[in-house]
Amino acid sequence: MTQEFKVLVANSSHIGFALQICREMEESAKARGTGIAKRSPDYLESKMNEGKAVIAFAPDGSWAGFCYIECWGHGEYVANSGLIVAPAFRKSGLARQIKKKIFELSRTKYPDAKIFGLTTGLAVMKINSELGYEPVTYSELTQDEAFWQGCKSCVNHDILKGKDRKNCLCTAMLYDPKDHYTPEETTTEFKKKEKIYERFLRSKQIQYLKNLKRNNFLIVVYSFFVNLFLHNNNS
Ligand SMILES: CC(C)(COP(=O)(O)OP(=O)(O)OC[C@H]1O[C@@H](n2cnc3c(N)ncnc32)[C@H](O)[C@@H]1OP(=O)(O)O)[C@@H](O)C(=O)NCCC(=O)NCCS
Repeated sequence: MTQEFKVLVANSSHIGFALQICREMEESAKARGTGIAKRSPDYLESKMNEGKAVIAFAPDGSWAGFCYIECWGHGEYVANSGLIVAPAFRKSGLARQIKKKIFELSRTKYPDAKIFGLTTGLAVMKINSELGYEPVTYSELTQDEAFWQGCKSCVNHDILKGKDRKNCLCTAMLYDPKDHYTPEETTTEFKKKEKIYERFLRSKQIQYLKNLKRNNFLIVVYSFFVNLFLHNNNS
């Protein structure tokens, strides 16, 4: 059964949902085993107060989804971040509705800004393509330090640092109002390459897990020799 969600520009009357949204963001990131830039309830409240967020509700009034706008490089770039749909309402088209609403809000508030996003998920890549975003290299994103600082709280930050901020597990996508393909073109291009993207995202994930295992192995070996050293010194 399809549900009729209410998808609204958030305001101060919604700040009571900030904690629940924040918790769901953390739980979902843990469940996926991927990283996110951590957000506090205060931060989400400020986005609601400024009218820079979209919130969705199910017909019974329960919270169903959220996303917000961030502005970087003195307004040259805008990111639509923190997309989350409550688990009970996933796979019913809600993320697509939220992303459309936040994209329209971004275009109205910042008509000249480039809109970008970083994602580890195929669903978001698909939705972004339908809006006219195309995959880009990290060099085409904002170089605003404040944006990249946000990645510090992500579990994958070491990878980003190790790759000199040129790549990481997330795929970068961008909509440039001055130079963009039509949504039809980007959607067709995505469909052509969907299988490749899927494999690419999976291989990035596997590489990360391999690195994690190797690092854990090195930590175990290192701890063994430190303990051996301490033991010999004490006896
Ligand atoms: C990713 C997320 C936002 C998708 O929300 P959703 O409401 O289930 O997405 P939709 O129903 O609008 O689906 C949009 C499209 O993506 C596809 N899709 C949804 N989840 C998917 C998944 N896990 N893997 C692959 N495709 C997926 C859908 O099939 C749909 O395509 P279709 O209409 O051609 O079939 C949701 O799963 C979520 O909140 N996950 C945890 C947080 C997260 O990953 N946020 C994104 C951070 S960048």
